[in-house]
Amino acid sequence: MSGSPQTSLPATGADSGDAAIVVRNLTKTYDDNIVLNDLTFTLERGKVYVVMGPSGCGKSTLLRQLIGAETPDAGHVTIGGVDMHSPDRKVRDEARRKFGVLFQSAALLNGLTVAENVALPIQRHTDLPQSTIDLMVRLKLELVGMGAASDKYPYEISGGMKKRAGLARAIALDPAIVFYDEPSAGLDPVMIGVIDKLIMDLTNKLGITSVVITHEMPSIFRIADEVLMLYNGRFVFRGTAEQLRRSSDPLVRQFLNGDPEGPINAPRQLAELSDRLLGGSRRAGNGDVLKGADA
Ligand SMILES: Nc1ncnc2c1ncn2[C@@H]1O[C@H](COP(=O)(O)OP(=O)(O)OP(=O)(O)O)[C@@H](O)[C@H]1O
Ligand SMILES: [Mg+2]
Repeated sequence: MSGSPQTSLPATGADSGDAAIVVRNLTKTYDDNIVLNDLTFTLERGKVYVVMGPSGCGKSTLLRQLIGAETPDAGHVTIGGVDMHSPDRKVRDEARRKFGVLFQSAALLNGLTVAENVALPIQRHTDLPQSTIDLMVRLKLELVGMGAASDKYPYEISGGMKKRAGLARAIALDPAIVFYDEPSAGLDPVMIGVIDKLIMDLTNKLGITSVVITHEMPSIFRIADEVLMLYNGRFVFRGTAEQLRRSSDPLVRQFLNGDPEGPINAPRQLAELSDRLLGGSRRAGNGDVLKGADA
């Protein structure tokens, strides 16, 4: 499959044993801004999925719906078979143990050391004794090459180290799935390579499913088993990195080439497309999708 529109995506064993994440008819709007428009897709276990798309297209919004941090307007998300938006808090808490998240900002607490930050989710979700927690924390920090920095505070370490500490925290509870929101943003190429290798190692050696939001092209081609491109509330591409490379879809081509001209950047065309897709409900002067043209 190369560059297929979302409507023709294969129904890859929804609710089957291989599914890590099953999403059905997911819609999220902010006021009259339809950010996610009836998304249906399945992600399988043990693969690296990259979600890409212009700035403001809704990648972080999608992530927040997937992890149950926000309530969608419509649709269902199940992770490991558990409903992420169950009204039963115990069910949601159980589901939350199945995944870790590396947020866009790494989101470490400044008043705690690196080790204390990594220990937090273990303390919150288990009754393990402190000595066991210390051992788990040390293991995770060694795994991401941060053993020597465990007693440092977040403001004492570099951006790349913060990302690695955030990753250690994300995997503290041995999750089946890790979500990464722009893990490479602001890092130098070597550090991006280090993070990419960590993502691939976690997937290949530990069987973790990785969902990585990024528009770092070298990373995408290095790590992705599959790429999904989000645009105007829908997936306009789903396929392998090689299929992405060969895609003739004008949206994909413009994004890959970083062309300032093209469908993503043409305000009139975009307005028409948006009006057609959203049934004229697009808010006048809403430049959030257009914002992607500047990225
Ligand atoms: N809490 C909110 N309230 C209102 N609008 C929001 C909210 N969160 C996001 N949005 C809007 O939803 C759209 C998608 O935002 P989102 O942060 O998901 O984009 P993104 O693809 O992650 O962008 P970036 O690549 O810049 O991180 C934008 O138009 C944004 O302004
Ligand atoms: Mg974002």
